[in-house]
Amino acid sequence: MEAKKRTCQVQLTADGRLKHFLGIQGLSQALLTEILDTAESFANMGEQAVKKVPLLRGRTVVNLFFENSTRTRATFELAAKRLSADVLNLDIKTSSTAKGETLMDTLQNMEAMHADMFVVRHADSGAAHFIASQITPRVAIINAGDGRHAHPTQAMLDMFTIRRHKGSFEGLKVAIVGDLLHSRVARSQIRALSTLGVEEVRVVAPKTLIPTGIDSLGVKVFTRLEQGLKDVDVVIMLRLQKERMSGAFLPSENEFYHQYGLTQSRLRLAKPDAIVMHPGPINRGVEIESAVADGPQSVILQQVGYGIATRMAVMSMAMSGQLQERSQ
Ligand code: CP
Repeated sequence: MEAKKRTCQVQLTADGRLKHFLGIQGLSQALLTEILDTAESFANMGEQAVKKVPLLRGRTVVNLFFENSTRTRATFELAAKRLSADVLNLDIKTSSTAKGETLMDTLQNMEAMHADMFVVRHADSGAAHFIASQITPRVAIINAGDGRHAHPTQAMLDMFTIRRHKGSFEGLKVAIVGDLLHSRVARSQIRALSTLGVEEVRVVAPKTLIPTGIDSLGVKVFTRLEQGLKDVDVVIMLRLQKERMSGAFLPSENEFYHQYGLTQSRLRLAKPDAIVMHPGPINRGVEIESAVADGPQSVILQQVGYGIATRMAVMSMAMSGQLQERSQ
């Protein structure tokens, strides 16, 4: 409860508007819905002749990715450019971080260049919260994934995808399948799905990949894929996150695919109009069969596209809250 209160105090203005976007925990259904509705207003921008609105004109956004990324980094850059911001992508591999400069010094140097927003991906859980609360509180901080903790913009683009396909969250059964233990995406998705009012969130994984106490988040736990998939509306597959595994959690990838891989025949256990999602990157033949990833029920590439509109929504709302706070 205390952690929830602290995160809310840091990411919201006194009147409850976003000024940073650090995590889903503690955000209201009304605020999550406002993000989705704002994203909806940007959703068709990619098809327009001029793909720009002036909401962040004159503002400087710095992408700080201390961990690898394809989708998140690229869509944040496009989102910032479509909002007319000036965008700087700091290349961490060739930056002075390699000479031993601390995170705090790097960020304070960026702040000295009058940056207005940092988009941060970091291997340490809590990094975005620490930056927003302790290092640069007057720069809007957007969490682009921190350790195992949270990936809130991924969760919101996933919610956007579900609402676009299913119309609303009411009555939906959603199964999240795979490496729950190391997944920041799953933690954020579970919070968002619960807040938005789905009927049932299921998590499906071998016992070794289920975090202790996950049922306290209100999910139903399944260790057999066939049972977990039965009659669900949405299947979300997760990647085995080997970069965060420090021991042997599975006999082998082959064995994992044999028991938990989403194949065409297993997908038939879900509702006939179920959609298949995956935050990416996908590992074909490890968690998902190619025929499913590329099949008619897959919305995996749509998720990526919706990431731009969703990130535009979060960035514009946080910048607006941050400017309100700075003016007081
Ligand atoms: N979904 C996701 O975070 O992908 P990237 O690691 O490529 O950004």
